[in-house]
Amino acid sequence: MGVEVSVEGLTKSFGSQNIWRDVTLTLPEGEVSALLGPSGTGKSVFLKALIGLLHPEQGSVIVDGTDITKCSSKELYEIRKLFGVLFQDGALFGSMSLFDNTAFPLREHTKKSESDIRSIVMEKLDLVGLSDAGDKLPGEISGGMRKRAGLARALVLDPQIILCDEPDSGLDPVRTAYISQLLIDINAEIDATILIVTHNINIARTIPDNIGMLFRKELVMFGPREVLLTSEEPAVKQFLSGDRFGPIGMSEEKDDATAAQEKELEDAGIGGGGTKDDFSEIIPQVQPNPGMPERKASARHRERVEEMLHELPENAQQAIRESQSQEDEIRRANAEGMDRQNNKGGNGNGNNGGGNGNNGGVNTEKQYAGSNDNTEQFPAYRAGGNPAGNS
Ligand SMILES: Nc1ncnc2c1ncn2[C@@H]1O[C@H](COP(=O)(O)OP(=O)(O)OP(=O)(O)O)[C@@H](O)[C@H]1O
Ligand SMILES: [Mg+2]
Repeated sequence: MGVEVSVEGLTKSFGSQNIWRDVTLTLPEGEVSALLGPSGTGKSVFLKALIGLLHPEQGSVIVDGTDITKCSSKELYEIRKLFGVLFQDGALFGSMSLFDNTAFPLREHTKKSESDIRSIVMEKLDLVGLSDAGDKLPGEISGGMRKRAGLARALVLDPQIILCDEPDSGLDPVRTAYISQLLIDINAEIDATILIVTHNINIARTIPDNIGMLFRKELVMFGPREVLLTSEEPAVKQFLSGDRFGPIGMSEEKDDATAAQEKELEDAGIGGGGTKDDFSEIIPQVQPNPGMPERKASARHRERVEEMLHELPENAQQAIRESQSQEDEIRRANAEGMDRQNNKGGNGNGNNGGGNGNNGGVNTEKQYAGSNDNTEQFPAYRAGGNPAGNS
């Protein structure tokens, strides 16, 4: 069962350099949230503040009823067992094999036997596609493999809260699709609360229930993905479309001269190179693989969105309604596909596509089951598009 993480008025500086101030947000229990923001805005610092590795000078972080910014180190040690963390650089111990790195939290925090530890570690390494690499040292493998090993280690205690700092960085598009799907499946299985820091807009568009964005030392927005994805907030819009023109510059704050120059170019009909995707359409959220339980968070999230729907502009309301009905259709198709598979007496796993029909994200063409499909048996299992495509 996931745990809510409630952040109130959090402010962090290093010496005289303020990183962000007055950040307030709640990671709803069992939901998947994503944190976006230009490089250097303090996303990784935020993640570290959530587990008490860095000490904010103001505000609180309440986890399971305890304010981790003020509790004793003994309490903090206990609270940390709820977390699984994938650090941006993987943070593996260089002198330990991947197996021992992955086993580390189990040896540190549990009294499990070595044979139990072995079976858990091998299961997690297998989940991230590294079952053959257990003997390797971090220095002997690729960056993407280190990232996946870091994820295996983050999952090994079946954490109730999972923090992932750029799980996709250094991964190829196919591995990114698998890792994204894995996070959704884990969420469905154990209802863990998940926070993903990412620059990958396709992940942001298709994986989380909620999105937040840090910019200019503040949390610009945090809320249901549907609201952010249809937002007219200039920094959010610019970030999502990856355009040069807008409030975000090469160094975070754009100087007036650059802004004026770009305005002239824009007026002359010259674009800033961003994607021309139509952001008024919300791509349906990736669903758990067929055979997985329903995500418990879905219903709670839907309820929250319903409550705020009337406050949103008409076009946003319409986009949300459409994506909701597409998601319902995907779920129905997945369930039907599973039924058919079971009745056929097949091998039961049913996941022959590595995706579930909507984990595309690049094509705004609606990729839900039944649309222009040529895999008759399992319309919903058609491998999706390419979730990392435009990262
Ligand atoms: N331990 C530290 N001591 C001093 N300054 C730090 C420390 N850790 C981070 N910073 C500073 O905090 C700022 C935010 O860093 P952070 O790593 O959180 O950015 P980020 O948003 O994760 O960027 P990216 O997208 O590139 O990973 C940077 O200016 C960085 O130099
Ligand atoms: Mg970072």
